[in-house]
Amino acid sequence: MPLFIVENDITRMECDAIVNAANNSLLGGGGVDGAIHAAAGPALLAECRTLGGCETGDAKITDGYMLPAKRVIHTVGPVWRGGAHGEEALLRSCYRRSLALAERNGCESVAFPLISAGAYGYPKHDALEIAMSEISDFLRGSEMTVYVVIYRREDALFDEAVTASLAALIRESEEPEPAGAPPRESRRFGLLAKRARPAARRNDDAECFDMLAEPQAERHAFALCGSAAPELKNQLDNLDESFSQSLLRRIDEKGMTDVECYKRANVDRKHFSKIRGDVRYRPSKQTAVAFAIALRLTRAETDDLLMKAGFALSRSSKFDVIVSYFIARGDYDVSHVNEALFAFDQPLLGC
Ligand code: APR
Repeated sequence: MPLFIVENDITRMECDAIVNAANNSLLGGGGVDGAIHAAAGPALLAECRTLGGCETGDAKITDGYMLPAKRVIHTVGPVWRGGAHGEEALLRSCYRRSLALAERNGCESVAFPLISAGAYGYPKHDALEIAMSEISDFLRGSEMTVYVVIYRREDALFDEAVTASLAALIRESEEPEPAGAPPRESRRFGLLAKRARPAARRNDDAECFDMLAEPQAERHAFALCGSAAPELKNQLDNLDESFSQSLLRRIDEKGMTDVECYKRANVDRKHFSKIRGDVRYRPSKQTAVAFAIALRLTRAETDDLLMKAGFALSRSSKFDVIVSYFIARGDYDVSHVNEALFAFDQPLLGC
């Protein structure tokens, strides 16, 4: 856990295993197959010769030789013949068999190309959807880290209709405000900023509170605050619940387990333990949003949770516009949101 989408050449990935989009002979070819064999060196082909080929939908494992990856999992995707010849089931099998083989061989990190999305002609958007859904399903029961490696950004074709809607929203958010209107960001953001200000003040208070940890520092701090000291002390003694407290409360309210929540948020166990263990933990915006999506929060609930971490969703950032779009549509699948964020070159949810 978690699942990343990255733009890279898979032969450069330093994982426990990289997956090769091979053909039934396993004796090399073009595309990613050719690149992996070229980077691994002749010893890879020599080992492949001993494997006796591979059925479509199945997977076999070899050493990585001169690759930075330790192992290579060779799988054979289906050739696209219109979709009525069991292509989807065979492609899903490639991901399942490869992940099972990686798990059996103790791999903690695996990188996949978009299998069948090149020479085999599988529609790229469907190929990405299948990859993300199969890997996400597998990761519900595994702590493995998985990468979907996109060689060229245009390979990560996201749902055209959604892409068009998002592009329109982003363009609109970048249009200059009519003369005289307060800038949208300050108007909208101002509103949120006002609501966020208590959080910001809380941050200042929290820093002041940190300063007050020591008795000596407390006397010094209150001397600095003068007449404001009693009111400030009262506020410091009555801070709002923190991000961590709010998150844990909402997990309970939703009847979710911690594991369900952090896996839905595409966050790994170690990171979640840090959040659970530190009442003052400050997440990144991506992590805070990832938990809002995992908890299937409404927009207002999302704004409230983000505010606890000192963030707000505005209309002046592509990331915020994309996240707001999915929340408004009630699509809380973090891999869908990440596919769109990746397509618009934005940071992904989770970690
Ligand atoms: N790193 C990551 N992804 C890559 C790389 C690379 N170095 N090179 C190509 N890709 C991408 C392609 O852009 C495509 O999205 O991998 C995806 C799969 O493309 P192919 O390599 O053509 O694989 P596939 O469509 O499964 O066809 C397999 O092609 O190379 C032959 O021997 C192979 O016969 C087999 C067939």
